[in-house]
Amino acid sequence: MPAWAEPPGDAARGSRVFASKQCASCHRPSGQSGVGPALERLRHPQGAYELAGRLWNHAPAMFTGLTQERLEWPRINAAEMADLMAYLGADPTRDPAPDLVKGRLALVAKGCLKCHAFRGEGGRIGPDLAEGRERYAPPATWAAAVWRHTPRMAAVAIQREVLYPRFSGDEMVDLLGFLRSGTGTP
Ligand code: HEC
Ligand code: HEC
Repeated sequence: MPAWAEPPGDAARGSRVFASKQCASCHRPSGQSGVGPALERLRHPQGAYELAGRLWNHAPAMFTGLTQERLEWPRINAAEMADLMAYLGADPTRDPAPDLVKGRLALVAKGCLKCHAFRGEGGRIGPDLAEGRERYAPPATWAAAVWRHTPRMAAVAIQREVLYPRFSGDEMVDLLGFLRSGTGTP
């Protein structure tokens, strides 16, 4: 299915995704003890690429927790991710317009080019980030790619004791704005 045909997320289905993908085992309603922050702290109005940035940041903590429990990293496809994001309060209209100059800088500053090329320049470990622009939009498709990608990165970072890149503020919005624009317009 082309990315632009992705159906909008449904919060009620997202609540079931939250339960079935292990999220609910670490994120419990406030008052009950859980490994991660309480459910109420995750669910609030937020931008969609902003939430994708939070999911990126979250990989090392979750990777460590799941490894201790000997659980597999849950697979989440783009449709499930759209539902999960609706449940968590993500709204693409809350993301600001990207700053493409800052996005270009983030590509370097976040270490992407250590492993990836962009238009042929950079690392050779992962795919060239100028290719495959269907991964970058809509936001749930990108969040699903983040979800597939980050456990491997987190594992490498933990093994080699290198700093895992984290996103704050609008950095993910800017980086994705740059990646979408840098690969040509649809
Ligand atoms: C093994 C335990 C564990 C599981 C399973 C888990 N989380 Fe988390 N989560 C954590 C911990 C610990 C934190 C806080 C530390 C961090 O963000 O690095 C966290 C933080 C978060 C945050 C907030 C991050 C931020 O920067 O504000 C979000 C959003 C989140 N989790 C979503 C999810 C979703 C969605 C799932 C299921 C697909 C999930 N989590 C499954 C442990 C878990
Ligand atoms: C430590 C090396 C490493 C770093 C750093 C890294 N990646 Fe990756 N990336 C990989 C590898 C290896 C793959 C190939 C498949 C996989 O494991 O997801 C990949 C795959 C991807 C994919 C394709 C995922 C999919 O399933 O469609 C995207 C998009 C991506 N990386 C984006 C980024 C961005 C953006 C950054 C910087 C913020 C980054 N990567 C940093 C190693 C890295």
